[in-house]
Amino acid sequence: MLDKFLSLVRELVSKNITEVIEEANPIEQAMNYSASSESKMIRAALIYASAENNNQLNPLSKLTLATSIELIHTYSLIHDDLPSMDDDDYRRGKESNHIKFGEANAILAGDALQALAYQIIANDAHLNSDMKVEAISILSSACGKNGMVYGQYLDIKNETRETKKDEIVLIHSLKTGKLIECAVMLGQIGNNKNKYIDKYHNFGRKIGLAFQITDDILEVTSDKKTLGKNTNSDEKNNKATYVNTVGLDNAIKESESLTEAAVNEISDDNISGTNMLIELAKYITHREA
Ligand code: IPE
Ligand code: IPE
Ligand code: MG
Ligand code: MG
Repeated sequence: MLDKFLSLVRELVSKNITEVIEEANPIEQAMNYSASSESKMIRAALIYASAENNNQLNPLSKLTLATSIELIHTYSLIHDDLPSMDDDDYRRGKESNHIKFGEANAILAGDALQALAYQIIANDAHLNSDMKVEAISILSSACGKNGMVYGQYLDIKNETRETKKDEIVLIHSLKTGKLIECAVMLGQIGNNKNKYIDKYHNFGRKIGLAFQITDDILEVTSDKKTLGKNTNSDEKNNKATYVNTVGLDNAIKESESLTEAAVNEISDDNISGTNMLIELAKYITHREA
């Protein structure tokens, strides 16, 4: 069931990406190169799954929000791979954006993907003004100076193995967790009747941290072909990761217990439409790529 759901989300969002990004200029080509390459689209899927109990969202608006978050995520990966950041030459099974298009164009493609993410929300035909403001507010605060970007700053600053566990929890919760949490909350836009919104928030926070712990685990247990990205990146950059901070076995255990705690948050008979969120939470910890 989850496989079918994920394939459907990927199909819808991929098609929409080719509609919102043309190939008319070299920056659009660079944007498309990364945004249209094969990816899991877990953030888009989380929006759809969260929105299952939200009848305020038109299907086309779900698609807009799902596309928007994948554009932001793609921008973050293009910038993450730059020589001044993680300096990685391989992403989503092919050359990184800056290897293919040069550093300046990769930076610009990332910038334009970010702008486009907000533009498509502003131009959505079915979200009312309040919903647009809410969506832009949630997304921008997750990405910005106290969210993902600050997490990326801390991640680069902590390219030393001296990092303590609470620092690594903070870095992971910000650089990756914030956008995952944001996906869960975007699915709830306009859903004023949801009395359990705090539970959705806690769920998002927990699976967000679990997602990045699993990313660190896969870097040491998987391979380049399966992941579509380099598996020596953290080692090369002397990066503090969950695995080298608490050890592989503890990292696996903690990722699993975070998922369990997240599932418990929303496993309440009074909360409806949570099946797919629960499936996704389990997938986040047990995925192979
Ligand atoms: C990779 O994200 C970067 C992190 C934030 C850990 P994903 O594992 O979701 O990458 P794609 O989108 O499937 O390529
Ligand atoms: C990526 O984290 C986080 C963001 C892009 C915001 P990582 O640097 O750990 O992810 P990968 O391993 O390169 O995908
Ligand atoms: Mg990084
Ligand atoms: Mg990286």
